[in-house]
Amino acid sequence: MAKLTEFLIDELVQTYGTPLLVVDCKQLATQVEQLRAALPNVDLYYALKAFSDTQIIRELDAMGVGFDIASSGEADLLYAMKVNPRQTIHTHPIKTDDDIRQALRFGCTTFVIDNFAELQKFIPYRSRVGLLIRVAFRSSEAVVDLSKKFGCDPGELDWLVAEASRLDLAVKGFSFHVGSQCSSPSAHVHAIETCAQRLREWQTRQPQLSVLDIGGGFPVSYQNPSMAIEDFCRPIRQALTQVPDEVQIIAEPGRYLVAPTAHAVSRVMGKATRGAVPWYYLDDGVYGNYSGQIFDSARYPIHVFKQGPKQPSVLAGPTCDSIDIVAENIMLPELAIGDVVIGSNMGAYTHATSTHFNRLRPAQVICINEQAQQPSVAFIG
Ligand SMILES: Cc1ncc(COP(=O)(O)O)c(C=O)c1O
Repeated sequence: MAKLTEFLIDELVQTYGTPLLVVDCKQLATQVEQLRAALPNVDLYYALKAFSDTQIIRELDAMGVGFDIASSGEADLLYAMKVNPRQTIHTHPIKTDDDIRQALRFGCTTFVIDNFAELQKFIPYRSRVGLLIRVAFRSSEAVVDLSKKFGCDPGELDWLVAEASRLDLAVKGFSFHVGSQCSSPSAHVHAIETCAQRLREWQTRQPQLSVLDIGGGFPVSYQNPSMAIEDFCRPIRQALTQVPDEVQIIAEPGRYLVAPTAHAVSRVMGKATRGAVPWYYLDDGVYGNYSGQIFDSARYPIHVFKQGPKQPSVLAGPTCDSIDIVAENIMLPELAIGDVVIGSNMGAYTHATSTHFNRLRPAQVICINEQAQQPSVAFIG
Protein backbone atom coordinates (compact mmCIF):
# COMPACT_ATOMS: atom_id res chain seq x y z
CA MET A 1 0.00 0.00 0.00
CA ALA A 2 1.47 3.34 -1.03
CA LYS A 3 1.90 5.80 1.84
CA LEU A 4 0.52 9.28 1.35
CA THR A 5 3.02 11.96 2.31
CA GLU A 6 2.21 14.57 4.91
CA PHE A 7 2.73 17.21 2.24
CA LEU A 8 0.15 15.71 -0.12
CA ILE A 9 -2.38 15.17 2.67
CA ASP A 10 -1.90 18.76 3.77
CA GLU A 11 -2.51 19.98 0.25
CA LEU A 12 -5.67 17.85 -0.11
CA VAL A 13 -7.01 18.95 3.28
CA GLN A 14 -6.37 22.63 2.43
CA THR A 15 -8.15 22.22 -0.89
CA TYR A 16 -11.06 19.95 0.00
CA GLY A 17 -11.41 19.98 3.80
CA THR A 18 -12.26 16.76 5.66
CA PRO A 19 -13.46 14.04 5.91
CA LEU A 20 -11.92 12.62 2.74
CA LEU A 21 -11.40 9.22 1.21
CA VAL A 22 -8.29 9.49 -0.94
CA VAL A 23 -8.12 6.83 -3.67
CA ASP A 24 -4.79 6.14 -5.38
CA CYS A 25 -5.56 4.84 -8.87
CA LYS A 26 -1.94 3.75 -9.37
CA GLN A 27 -2.41 1.36 -6.46
CA LEU A 28 -5.64 0.12 -8.05
CA ALA A 29 -3.70 -0.78 -11.20
CA THR A 30 -1.12 -2.61 -9.06
CA GLN A 31 -3.85 -4.64 -7.35
CA VAL A 32 -5.29 -5.67 -10.73
CA GLU A 33 -1.84 -6.61 -12.07
CA GLN A 34 -1.02 -8.66 -8.96
CA LEU A 35 -4.29 -10.59 -8.99
CA ARG A 36 -4.01 -11.22 -12.73
CA ALA A 37 -0.45 -12.49 -12.28
CA ALA A 38 -1.58 -14.78 -9.46
CA LEU A 39 -4.61 -16.07 -11.43
CA PRO A 40 -3.46 -15.84 -15.05
CA ASN A 41 -6.33 -17.71 -16.69
CA VAL A 42 -9.11 -16.15 -14.68
CA ASP A 43 -11.25 -13.26 -16.01
CA LEU A 44 -11.88 -10.66 -13.32
CA TYR A 45 -15.29 -9.11 -12.66
CA TYR A 46 -14.97 -6.42 -9.98
CA ALA A 47 -17.67 -6.71 -7.28
CA LEU A 48 -19.07 -3.19 -7.45
CA LYS A 49 -20.60 -3.43 -3.98
CA ALA A 50 -17.15 -3.02 -2.39
CA PHE A 51 -16.87 0.59 -3.61
CA SER A 52 -18.87 1.87 -6.58
CA ASP A 53 -16.93 5.08 -7.16
CA THR A 54 -17.16 6.28 -10.77
CA GLN A 55 -13.42 6.88 -11.22
CA ILE A 56 -12.66 3.38 -9.93
CA ILE A 57 -15.14 2.03 -12.49
CA ARG A 58 -13.49 4.09 -15.25
CA GLU A 59 -10.03 2.84 -14.29
CA LEU A 60 -11.06 -0.81 -14.10
CA ASP A 61 -13.02 -0.58 -17.35
CA ALA A 62 -9.93 0.85 -19.08
CA MET A 63 -7.91 -2.12 -17.75
CA GLY A 64 -10.41 -4.58 -19.24
CA VAL A 65 -11.83 -5.70 -15.90
CA GLY A 66 -15.51 -6.69 -16.00
CA PHE A 67 -18.13 -5.94 -13.33
CA ASP A 68 -20.19 -8.01 -10.92
CA ILE A 69 -23.46 -6.21 -10.21
CA ALA A 70 -25.99 -7.13 -7.54
CA SER A 71 -28.75 -4.52 -7.75
CA SER A 72 -30.69 -2.33 -10.15
CA GLY A 73 -28.82 0.69 -8.79
CA GLU A 74 -25.49 -0.86 -9.79
CA ALA A 75 -26.86 -1.77 -13.25
CA ASP A 76 -28.11 1.82 -13.69
CA LEU A 77 -24.74 3.25 -12.72
CA LEU A 78 -22.86 1.13 -15.28
CA TYR A 79 -25.50 1.94 -17.91
CA ALA A 80 -25.05 5.68 -17.24
CA MET A 81 -21.28 5.24 -17.56
CA LYS A 82 -21.66 3.36 -20.86
CA VAL A 83 -19.84 0.27 -19.58
CA ASN A 84 -20.12 -2.64 -22.03
CA PRO A 85 -22.88 -4.85 -20.55
CA ARG A 86 -21.24 -7.93 -22.08
CA GLN A 87 -18.52 -7.38 -19.50
CA THR A 88 -20.97 -7.72 -16.62
CA ILE A 89 -22.65 -10.47 -14.60
CA HIS A 90 -25.53 -10.17 -12.15
CA THR A 91 -24.58 -12.20 -9.09
CA HIS A 92 -27.33 -11.61 -6.54
CA PRO A 93 -28.99 -15.00 -6.06
CA ILE A 94 -32.33 -13.41 -5.04
CA LYS A 95 -33.86 -10.79 -7.35
CA THR A 96 -37.18 -9.12 -8.06
CA ASP A 97 -38.69 -9.25 -11.52
CA ASP A 98 -37.88 -5.52 -11.77
CA ASP A 99 -34.21 -6.24 -11.00
CA ILE A 100 -34.10 -8.81 -13.81
CA ARG A 101 -35.78 -6.49 -16.31
CA GLN A 102 -33.56 -3.56 -15.33
CA ALA A 103 -30.41 -5.66 -15.78
CA LEU A 104 -31.67 -6.96 -19.14
CA ARG A 105 -32.49 -3.41 -20.25
CA PHE A 106 -28.87 -2.54 -19.47
CA GLY A 107 -27.75 -5.56 -21.50
CA CYS A 108 -26.50 -7.87 -18.75
CA THR A 109 -27.58 -11.42 -19.63
CA THR A 110 -25.70 -13.65 -17.16
CA PHE A 111 -27.49 -14.17 -13.83
CA VAL A 112 -26.85 -16.23 -10.72
CA ILE A 113 -29.58 -18.37 -9.10
CA ASP A 114 -29.44 -20.84 -6.22
CA ASN A 115 -32.94 -22.33 -5.92
CA PHE A 116 -36.00 -23.41 -7.85
CA ALA A 117 -38.16 -20.33 -7.04
CA GLU A 118 -35.45 -18.11 -8.48
CA LEU A 119 -35.10 -20.32 -11.56
CA GLN A 120 -38.79 -19.88 -12.32
CA LYS A 121 -38.42 -16.09 -12.38
CA PHE A 122 -36.42 -16.42 -15.59
CA ILE A 123 -39.07 -18.32 -17.58
CA PRO A 124 -40.36 -15.12 -19.30
CA TYR A 125 -36.79 -14.19 -20.29
CA ARG A 126 -35.54 -17.66 -21.26
CA SER A 127 -34.39 -16.69 -24.74
CA ARG A 128 -32.18 -13.89 -23.40
CA VAL A 129 -30.40 -15.25 -20.32
CA GLY A 130 -27.67 -17.65 -19.27
CA LEU A 131 -27.65 -18.84 -15.66
CA LEU A 132 -24.95 -19.75 -13.16
CA ILE A 133 -26.01 -21.94 -10.25
CA ARG A 134 -24.44 -20.80 -6.98
CA VAL A 135 -23.27 -23.54 -4.65
CA ALA A 136 -22.76 -23.06 -0.90
CA PHE A 137 -19.46 -23.96 0.72
CA ARG A 138 -19.45 -22.87 4.36
CA SER A 139 -16.11 -21.61 5.65
CA SER A 140 -15.05 -20.90 9.20
CA GLU A 141 -11.88 -19.30 7.86
CA ALA A 142 -13.65 -16.34 6.26
CA VAL A 143 -14.39 -13.20 8.27
CA VAL A 144 -17.72 -12.96 6.41
CA ASP A 145 -19.22 -16.41 5.70
CA LEU A 146 -21.40 -15.67 2.66
CA SER A 147 -22.49 -19.29 2.16
CA LYS A 148 -24.58 -19.01 5.31
CA LYS A 149 -27.05 -16.90 3.34
CA PHE A 150 -26.71 -18.04 -0.28
CA GLY A 151 -25.98 -21.09 -2.38
CA CYS A 152 -27.56 -24.49 -2.94
CA ASP A 153 -26.24 -27.69 -1.46
CA PRO A 154 -23.75 -29.36 -3.86
CA GLY A 155 -26.15 -32.36 -3.80
CA GLU A 156 -28.90 -30.22 -5.41
CA LEU A 157 -26.80 -29.21 -8.42
CA ASP A 158 -27.80 -31.99 -10.81
CA TRP A 159 -31.47 -31.57 -9.94
CA LEU A 160 -31.37 -27.80 -10.54
CA VAL A 161 -29.60 -28.22 -13.89
CA ALA A 162 -32.19 -30.83 -14.91
CA GLU A 163 -35.09 -28.58 -13.81
CA ALA A 164 -33.61 -25.68 -15.79
CA SER A 165 -33.40 -27.91 -18.89
CA ARG A 166 -37.01 -28.98 -18.38
CA LEU A 167 -38.01 -25.29 -18.29
CA ASP A 168 -35.88 -24.62 -21.38
CA LEU A 169 -33.54 -22.33 -19.41
CA ALA A 170 -29.85 -22.23 -20.31
CA VAL A 171 -27.47 -23.05 -17.44
CA LYS A 172 -23.95 -21.88 -18.30
CA GLY A 173 -22.16 -23.20 -15.23
CA PHE A 174 -21.58 -22.92 -11.51
CA SER A 175 -20.53 -20.20 -9.10
CA PHE A 176 -19.60 -19.99 -5.44
CA HIS A 177 -18.35 -17.45 -2.91
CA VAL A 178 -16.57 -19.07 0.01
CA GLY A 179 -16.67 -15.87 2.07
CA SER A 180 -14.95 -12.54 2.28
CA GLN A 181 -11.46 -11.95 3.74
CA CYS A 182 -10.44 -15.63 3.76
CA SER A 183 -7.43 -16.43 5.93
CA SER A 184 -6.47 -19.42 3.78
CA PRO A 185 -7.27 -20.70 0.29
CA SER A 186 -8.49 -24.09 1.52
CA ALA A 187 -12.21 -23.31 1.07
CA HIS A 188 -11.58 -22.10 -2.50
CA VAL A 189 -9.63 -25.28 -3.25
CA HIS A 190 -12.35 -27.53 -1.84
CA ALA A 191 -15.06 -25.65 -3.76
CA ILE A 192 -13.11 -25.75 -7.02
CA GLU A 193 -12.42 -29.48 -6.67
CA THR A 194 -16.12 -30.20 -6.02
CA CYS A 195 -17.29 -28.05 -8.93
CA ALA A 196 -14.56 -29.35 -11.26
CA GLN A 197 -15.74 -32.92 -10.68
CA ARG A 198 -19.33 -31.93 -11.55
CA LEU A 199 -18.16 -30.00 -14.61
CA ARG A 200 -16.20 -33.03 -15.82
CA GLU A 201 -19.31 -35.20 -15.39
CA TRP A 202 -21.39 -32.71 -17.39
CA GLN A 203 -18.89 -32.66 -20.28
CA THR A 204 -20.58 -35.70 -21.83
CA ARG A 205 -24.14 -34.54 -21.10
CA GLN A 206 -26.46 -31.72 -22.12
CA PRO A 207 -26.33 -28.83 -21.43
CA GLN A 208 -22.57 -28.41 -21.85
CA LEU A 209 -21.46 -26.23 -18.97
CA SER A 210 -18.89 -23.63 -19.91
CA VAL A 211 -18.33 -21.28 -16.92
CA LEU A 212 -16.98 -21.62 -13.39
CA ASP A 213 -17.18 -18.49 -11.23
CA ILE A 214 -14.88 -18.77 -8.20
CA GLY A 215 -16.24 -15.64 -6.44
CA GLY A 216 -14.17 -13.31 -4.26
CA GLY A 217 -12.68 -13.61 -0.81
CA PHE A 218 -9.06 -12.72 -1.67
CA PRO A 219 -7.61 -11.21 1.52
CA VAL A 220 -5.83 -7.97 2.39
CA SER A 221 -3.87 -6.97 5.51
CA TYR A 222 -5.61 -4.91 8.17
CA GLN A 223 -4.14 -5.37 11.68
CA ASN A 224 -2.65 -8.78 10.90
CA PRO A 225 -0.60 -9.47 7.79
CA SER A 226 -2.53 -11.55 5.25
CA MET A 227 -0.98 -14.17 2.96
CA ALA A 228 0.71 -12.67 -0.10
CA ILE A 229 -1.69 -12.97 -3.02
CA GLU A 230 0.75 -15.16 -4.97
CA ASP A 231 0.92 -17.64 -2.05
CA PHE A 232 -2.84 -17.49 -1.52
CA CYS A 233 -3.56 -18.23 -5.19
CA ARG A 234 -0.94 -20.95 -5.79
CA PRO A 235 -3.15 -23.82 -4.48
CA ILE A 236 -6.14 -22.26 -6.26
CA ARG A 237 -4.23 -22.34 -9.57
CA GLN A 238 -3.34 -25.94 -8.90
CA ALA A 239 -6.99 -26.87 -8.19
CA LEU A 240 -8.13 -25.07 -11.35
CA THR A 241 -6.09 -27.51 -13.46
CA GLN A 242 -8.85 -30.04 -12.67
CA VAL A 243 -11.44 -27.91 -14.47
CA PRO A 244 -12.04 -29.00 -18.10
CA ASP A 245 -10.12 -26.81 -20.59
CA GLU A 246 -13.32 -25.74 -22.35
CA VAL A 247 -14.61 -24.04 -19.19
CA GLN A 248 -14.06 -20.30 -18.78
CA ILE A 249 -12.98 -19.38 -15.24
CA ILE A 250 -14.09 -16.07 -13.81
CA ALA A 251 -13.76 -14.41 -10.37
CA GLU A 252 -15.59 -11.60 -8.56
CA PRO A 253 -12.97 -9.87 -6.40
CA GLY A 254 -14.04 -6.80 -4.45
CA ARG A 255 -11.90 -6.24 -1.38
CA TYR A 256 -8.55 -7.26 -2.89
CA LEU A 257 -8.82 -4.77 -5.75
CA VAL A 258 -9.90 -1.70 -3.80
CA ALA A 259 -9.08 -1.98 -0.07
CA PRO A 260 -5.39 -1.01 -0.36
CA THR A 261 -6.15 1.89 -2.71
CA ALA A 262 -7.78 4.24 -0.19
CA HIS A 263 -6.89 6.28 2.89
CA ALA A 264 -9.51 7.95 5.07
CA VAL A 265 -8.39 11.43 6.10
CA SER A 266 -10.15 13.03 9.07
CA ARG A 267 -9.36 15.81 11.52
CA VAL A 268 -9.70 16.22 15.26
CA MET A 269 -12.73 18.48 15.84
CA GLY A 270 -12.82 18.30 19.63
CA LYS A 271 -10.98 16.83 22.58
CA ALA A 272 -11.69 15.98 26.21
CA THR A 273 -10.12 14.09 29.10
CA ARG A 274 -12.40 11.44 30.55
CA GLY A 275 -11.12 9.40 33.51
CA ALA A 276 -7.56 10.58 32.74
CA VAL A 277 -7.83 9.21 29.19
CA PRO A 278 -7.57 11.63 26.26
CA TRP A 279 -10.55 11.46 23.91
CA TYR A 280 -10.27 12.91 20.41
CA TYR A 281 -13.45 13.52 18.41
CA LEU A 282 -12.93 13.15 14.66
CA ASP A 283 -15.07 14.41 11.78
CA ASP A 284 -15.35 10.79 10.52
CA GLY A 285 -16.51 7.69 12.36
CA VAL A 286 -18.37 4.39 12.24
CA TYR A 287 -21.39 5.99 10.57
CA GLY A 288 -18.99 7.27 7.89
CA ASN A 289 -15.85 5.77 6.34
CA TYR A 290 -15.25 3.61 9.42
CA SER A 291 -18.62 1.84 8.91
CA GLY A 292 -16.67 -1.29 7.94
CA GLN A 293 -15.72 -1.66 11.60
CA ILE A 294 -19.41 -2.42 12.22
CA PHE A 295 -20.58 -4.10 9.00
CA ASP A 296 -17.37 -5.76 7.82
CA SER A 297 -15.68 -6.64 11.16
CA ALA A 298 -12.59 -4.73 9.99
CA ARG A 299 -10.05 -2.84 12.13
CA TYR A 300 -8.09 -0.42 10.00
CA PRO A 301 -4.48 0.65 10.61
CA ILE A 302 -4.57 4.22 11.94
CA HIS A 303 -1.72 6.71 12.13
CA VAL A 304 -1.03 10.38 12.77
CA PHE A 305 1.83 12.58 11.61
CA LYS A 306 2.21 14.26 15.02
CA GLN A 307 5.26 13.10 17.02
CA GLY A 308 5.65 12.97 20.82
CA PRO A 309 5.27 10.77 23.90
CA LYS A 310 2.35 8.37 23.43
CA GLN A 311 -0.40 7.30 25.78
CA PRO A 312 -3.53 5.12 25.50
CA SER A 313 -6.22 7.30 23.91
CA VAL A 314 -9.67 7.11 22.35
CA LEU A 315 -10.65 8.17 18.83
CA ALA A 316 -14.38 8.84 18.59
CA GLY A 317 -16.61 9.68 15.62
CA PRO A 318 -18.66 12.86 15.18
CA THR A 319 -22.19 11.55 15.82
CA CYS A 320 -24.12 11.66 19.09
CA ASP A 321 -24.11 7.85 19.37
CA SER A 322 -21.80 6.14 21.84
CA ILE A 323 -21.21 3.21 19.47
CA ASP A 324 -19.43 5.73 17.26
CA ILE A 325 -15.92 5.01 18.54
CA VAL A 326 -13.17 4.33 16.01
CA ALA A 327 -10.45 3.11 18.38
CA GLU A 328 -9.96 2.66 22.13
CA ASN A 329 -6.65 2.13 23.86
CA ILE A 330 -4.82 3.37 20.80
CA MET A 331 -1.32 4.72 21.54
CA LEU A 332 -1.22 8.35 20.39
CA PRO A 333 0.82 11.48 21.08
CA GLU A 334 -1.16 14.46 22.33
CA LEU A 335 -3.25 15.75 19.43
CA ALA A 336 -4.57 19.25 18.86
CA ILE A 337 -7.83 20.33 17.27
CA GLY A 338 -7.29 20.33 13.52
CA ASP A 339 -4.67 17.53 13.54
CA VAL A 340 -5.06 14.93 10.82
CA VAL A 341 -5.77 11.22 11.48
CA ILE A 342 -5.29 8.71 8.65
CA GLY A 343 -6.95 5.31 8.28
CA SER A 344 -5.31 2.97 5.75
CA ASN A 345 -6.51 0.07 3.60
CA MET A 346 -9.94 1.67 3.57
CA GLY A 347 -11.23 1.25 0.01
CA ALA A 348 -13.52 -1.78 0.49
CA TYR A 349 -16.84 -1.78 2.35
CA THR A 350 -16.14 1.62 3.97
CA HIS A 351 -17.59 4.51 1.95
CA ALA A 352 -19.93 1.91 0.40
CA THR A 353 -21.67 1.30 3.74
CA SER A 354 -21.43 4.79 5.23
CA THR A 355 -24.65 6.49 6.32
CA HIS A 356 -26.13 9.97 6.65
CA PHE A 357 -26.84 9.59 10.38
CA ASN A 358 -27.14 12.95 12.16
CA ARG A 359 -27.31 14.39 8.61
CA LEU A 360 -23.55 14.59 8.62
CA ARG A 361 -21.80 15.21 5.33
CA PRO A 362 -20.33 11.95 3.98
CA ALA A 363 -16.62 11.92 3.17
CA GLN A 364 -15.65 13.34 -0.18
CA VAL A 365 -13.88 10.87 -2.46
CA ILE A 366 -10.73 12.29 -4.05
CA CYS A 367 -8.88 10.28 -6.68
CA ILE A 368 -5.19 10.79 -7.35
CA ASN A 369 -2.96 9.35 -10.06
CA GLU A 370 -5.86 8.67 -12.40
CA GLN A 371 -4.71 6.66 -15.39
CA ALA A 372 -8.00 6.47 -17.26
CA GLN A 373 -7.98 10.23 -17.79
CA GLN A 374 -5.77 13.28 -17.23
CA PRO A 375 -4.61 13.27 -13.58
CA SER A 376 -6.04 16.20 -11.63
CA VAL A 377 -3.68 15.81 -8.68
CA ALA A 378 -0.10 14.59 -8.81
CA PHE A 379 1.05 11.92 -6.39
CA ILE A 380 4.20 12.94 -4.58
CA GLY A 381 6.33 10.45 -2.71
C1 LIG B 1 -21.74 -12.26 -4.81
C2 LIG B 1 -20.49 -11.60 -4.35
N1 LIG B 1 -19.45 -11.55 -5.18
C3 LIG B 1 -18.30 -10.94 -4.83
C4 LIG B 1 -18.14 -10.36 -3.59
C5 LIG B 1 -16.84 -9.71 -3.27
O1 LIG B 1 -16.16 -10.41 -2.30
P1 LIG B 1 -14.74 -9.95 -1.77
O2 LIG B 1 -14.84 -8.50 -1.48
O3 LIG B 1 -14.50 -10.79 -0.59
O4 LIG B 1 -13.74 -10.22 -2.85
C6 LIG B 1 -19.20 -10.42 -2.66
C7 LIG B 1 -19.06 -9.84 -1.33
O5 LIG B 1 -19.99 -9.74 -0.55
C8 LIG B 1 -20.41 -11.06 -3.05
O6 LIG B 1 -21.47 -11.13 -2.22
